[in-house]
Amino acid sequence: MDKEAKTDFEIHPLLKSRWSPRAFEDRPVETEKLQRMLEASRWAPSASNIQPWIFFIGLKGDPAYNKIFETLVEFNQLWAVNAPVLILSCGKITTGDNETPNGIWQYDVGQSVAYMTLQAMEDELYVHQMTGFDALKAAELFSLHEDIRAVSVVAVGSLGDPAMLHPRMQKSELAERERKGMDTFVFSEKYGTASDIVEI
Ligand SMILES: Cc1cc2nc3c(=O)[nH]c(=O)nc-3n(C[C@H](O)[C@H](O)[C@H](O)COP(=O)(O)O)c2cc1C
Repeated sequence: MDKEAKTDFEIHPLLKSRWSPRAFEDRPVETEKLQRMLEASRWAPSASNIQPWIFFIGLKGDPAYNKIFETLVEFNQLWAVNAPVLILSCGKITTGDNETPNGIWQYDVGQSVAYMTLQAMEDELYVHQMTGFDALKAAELFSLHEDIRAVSVVAVGSLGDPAMLHPRMQKSELAERERKGMDTFVFSEKYGTASDIVEI
C-alpha cells in the first residue's frame, strides 16, 4: 500500500507518511504511546497560551469508549468499530475568567490534535479524525458544562488489513492520496495568483 505523500518539495518523513486509515488492527495501544501523544498535544501553541483543549479517552470495552462510539454517525461506526482507542476532543469556549469568549478556541483544539497525530506516527500509530458525530449527544453523555464544546472524535491504532473493511471503504483505503497544488492556495500580491516561491 503506497499511501506516502507525493510531495513537490521535501518534507519531514512523519508528515509524509501520515494518513487517515479506516482499517485498524484489533490490538490495544500501549499506555506509554498514548501518554506521549497526549503530552504532544499539551505542547501545541495556542492563542494567549489559553490551551482550550480537553480530551476524553476511551479504550475499547470501557464506558468512555462506548459513549464516544455511540455519538458516531453510522458510516463512521462501520469502520471505527475496529479502532482500539477513541478520543473525544473538546474545547473551552471562554477564556480564564469563564465569561469572555475565546474567539479562536476551535483553531487551537485542532492544532493540539495535529500535534497528537504526528507524535502518534513516531510510534507507528495512525490517527483518523472525524467530525461525523453528534456533538450534542457527546455533551449530554459526558455531562459537559455549557462552556465546553465537543469538536471531533479521533480514532487511534495500528494499521489493519484493508480487507476487514466494508467493501465501499476498501477503494479509498488503497487509493493514492491527493492534494490541491500549492499554486491554488499560496499567493503573494493578489488573491488567485500563485506566489513565485511555489512554482515548480
Ligand atoms: C476535521 C476532520 C473531520 C473529518 N471527518 C471525517 C469523518 O467524519 N469520517 C471519515 O471517515 N473521515 C473524516 N476525516 C478524514 C478526512 O477525510 C481525511 O483526513 C482526508 O480525506 C485526507 O486524507 P488523509 O488524512 O489520509 O491525508 C476528517 C478529517 C478531519 C481533519
